[in-house]
Amino acid sequence: MQGSAGTEPDKRAYLDVVGVGKAFKGTTVMSDMDFRVARGELVSLLGPSGCGKTTLLRIIAGLTSADAGDILLDGRAITRVPAHRRNISVVFQSYALFPHLTVAENVAFGLRARSVPKGDIAPKVSEALQLVRMRDFADRPVAALSGGQQQRVAVARALVVDPVLLLLDEPFSALDRKLRETMQVELKSLLRDRGMTAIFVTHDQEEAMGVSDRIAVMNSGQIEQFATPSELYARPRSSFVMDFVGLSTRMRGRVSKTDGPVMQIDTANGMVLAQGDYGVGTEVTVGVRPELITPVAGENTIKVTLADAMVLGAKTQLHGASHPEDRLLCEVPGIQTNLTRGQDVTFGWSVKDTLVYEAPR
Ligand SMILES: Nc1ncnc2c1ncn2[C@@H]1O[C@H](COP(=O)(O)OP(=O)(O)O)[C@@H](O)[C@H]1O
Ligand SMILES: [Mg+2]
Repeated sequence: MQGSAGTEPDKRAYLDVVGVGKAFKGTTVMSDMDFRVARGELVSLLGPSGCGKTTLLRIIAGLTSADAGDILLDGRAITRVPAHRRNISVVFQSYALFPHLTVAENVAFGLRARSVPKGDIAPKVSEALQLVRMRDFADRPVAALSGGQQQRVAVARALVVDPVLLLLDEPFSALDRKLRETMQVELKSLLRDRGMTAIFVTHDQEEAMGVSDRIAVMNSGQIEQFATPSELYARPRSSFVMDFVGLSTRMRGRVSKTDGPVMQIDTANGMVLAQGDYGVGTEVTVGVRPELITPVAGENTIKVTLADAMVLGAKTQLHGASHPEDRLLCEVPGIQTNLTRGQDVTFGWSVKDTLVYEAPR
């Protein structure tokens, strides 16, 4: 596994996290973390709960101090600059608004704290509320707003101070799915228009893929892969990344023969060919993205008994009966009503579309 995957020194880095380490009460939660973000880039930190996303964000913001390493912003070390002097805005999941103040007063708060001249405050607040389409609500108490409206106000409050960097920690996870999707689209275009550099923490793979130029997939305080959404999806560097970024067919197997760049792998569902150079006897995990499998024979072909055929609208998911540790999944476009549970079908796919990872011992 790669410790600091995809983080080669980059002279154009705007945010540069170098060798950061952090322990809480003697337990290391992060070590040697390298993480670089370019100016104007929208980046996500994606990973399961407890992997260190919030800790990294808080260290960048200066809300938590690192035990080791440095944070550079635009080439300047800010490691020892206190949070309130970094001009980095953070939006949290809990909107952390003042419920007794109006929308406008909440947005003005950071400007007042920075001693912005009185006459400049109202136009700045108005512009920020316009950005998030909340100007008509300026005089309402925030307690009277819905969750989505409150989160818009939180975004306006974060942007009104013209931050050098915007950090968002699971900002939409309290919202329902439809609203979350609308907010993602709006926020992305808003940040793009302003050329804002932003880091977006999420444990939702679709959210990360939708809003980001690049995604850092984190696991246990490490970045496993830092790449564009399409690279991550098509070429996950580990089975952890493959599983975290989208569903796939997944089978345990063992290399039984090699022939140049092609390996023959024995699985519970029969023999599978894949590109790679693991030696004979290596225990592996084989993965295939579900839309790359068709229900007809291919270079690789396995026989599957359908456990379920789920019509999802734009696609139909075919779930094969498998060993509990395996998953057999094929997605075909459109509505397929001719396929039903209990039916025997064929899953076929190309050798080049077969992902293989050495199984952990
Ligand atoms: N203030 C703290 N004191 C002790 N342990 C903490 C503290 N903050 C975070 N941790 C631990 O650090 C690890 C990473 O936490 P966190 O950064 O919150 O993860 P995530 O945001 O990815 O869910 C977890 O094991 C968590 O329990
Ligand atoms: Mg968190």
